[in-house]
Amino acid sequence: MNTTKPLAIEARNLTKSYGDTAVLGGIDIAVPEGTVFSLLGPNGAGKTTTVNILTTLIPADGGDAFVGGRSVAREADAVRRTIGVTGQFAAVDGLLTGRENLHLMGRLHHLGKRETRRRAEELLERFDLMDAAKRAPATYSGGMRRRLDIAMCLMGEPKVIFLDEPTTGLDPAGRRTVWSSIRELVKAGATIFLTTQYLEEADELADRIAVLDGGRLVAEGTPEQLKRMIPGGHISLRLHRADQVERTAQILNASGSDADQLTVQVPSDGSVTSLRKLLDVLDREGIEVDELTIHTPDLDDVFLSLTGNATA
Ligand SMILES: Nc1ncnc2c1ncn2[C@@H]1O[C@H](COP(=O)(O)OP(=O)(O)OP(=O)(O)O)[C@@H](O)[C@H]1O
Ligand SMILES: [Mg+2]
Repeated sequence: MNTTKPLAIEARNLTKSYGDTAVLGGIDIAVPEGTVFSLLGPNGAGKTTTVNILTTLIPADGGDAFVGGRSVAREADAVRRTIGVTGQFAAVDGLLTGRENLHLMGRLHHLGKRETRRRAEELLERFDLMDAAKRAPATYSGGMRRRLDIAMCLMGEPKVIFLDEPTTGLDPAGRRTVWSSIRELVKAGATIFLTTQYLEEADELADRIAVLDGGRLVAEGTPEQLKRMIPGGHISLRLHRADQVERTAQILNASGSDADQLTVQVPSDGSVTSLRKLLDVLDREGIEVDELTIHTPDLDDVFLSLTGNATA
């Protein structure tokens, strides 16, 4: 992580309970400016609760949080001016047209008429909503609603954007459209806080991922670091000569080999260092390799081993 970048979002020991139920058991989060942070977790993990605290919608019981350097508890107004939020249950008005919804947001942000219109047209275009602009969101597909919801959040040109499960319930095409809009936002310099139940989504978009389970962060790191945390990674070799299979398996402490297929599997964390070592041994021993593939566990494996929950 680039430690010289200021933090756009910081949470220290956040706690929250409802009655006797502890929903957040003390979580710490640090998101540098201009990066994508993904909070990953199963149903009921506390994702929306975290977003609601960070976006000033509900107070935490303990701990503190800062967005853009401002305290969510003591400087809520300043925080609200910095952020854009799209809800898990898209808050688009069903009666106004898509364009009118954007204009409404422009007024709420005091943009002025001309700037409001300019920005609304730009966003309708960018989110492929031109056809939808004259219709009420009640007639939209789920994907169109979600895109309008994101476009509405962008009317205020927020520096920090909170997306709570932005693609839940979307088909693969809708999901990809949302992903590419998120990438656009990052390119424009925004900081993104994204919650999701989809590992693939976190893997695609996030610089860092934290796994939330039962109100606690059970792991945090880059997608690659998380994948390396659990066993199951290996390098698979296909040799050129059958008579080298057995010896290779021995030298490399293989976890498996198949003389007919000419294959040898070697446990590995998938890092460049371990790959280099392996190649050195192959060179030194004069072992000819036709094909080499690296298998790192995917995030599904990680999630399962960390939370004991299968994912969507
Ligand atoms: N207002 C509330 N009153 C009582 N309990 C609540 C309230 N809001 C949330 N909870 C409880 O807090 C826990 C975490 O909820 P939260 O909505 O943050 O989870 P989540 O990770 O967003 O789940 P999902 O993936 O289903 O959206 C759940 O057990 C939920 O029932
Ligand atoms: Mg939620």
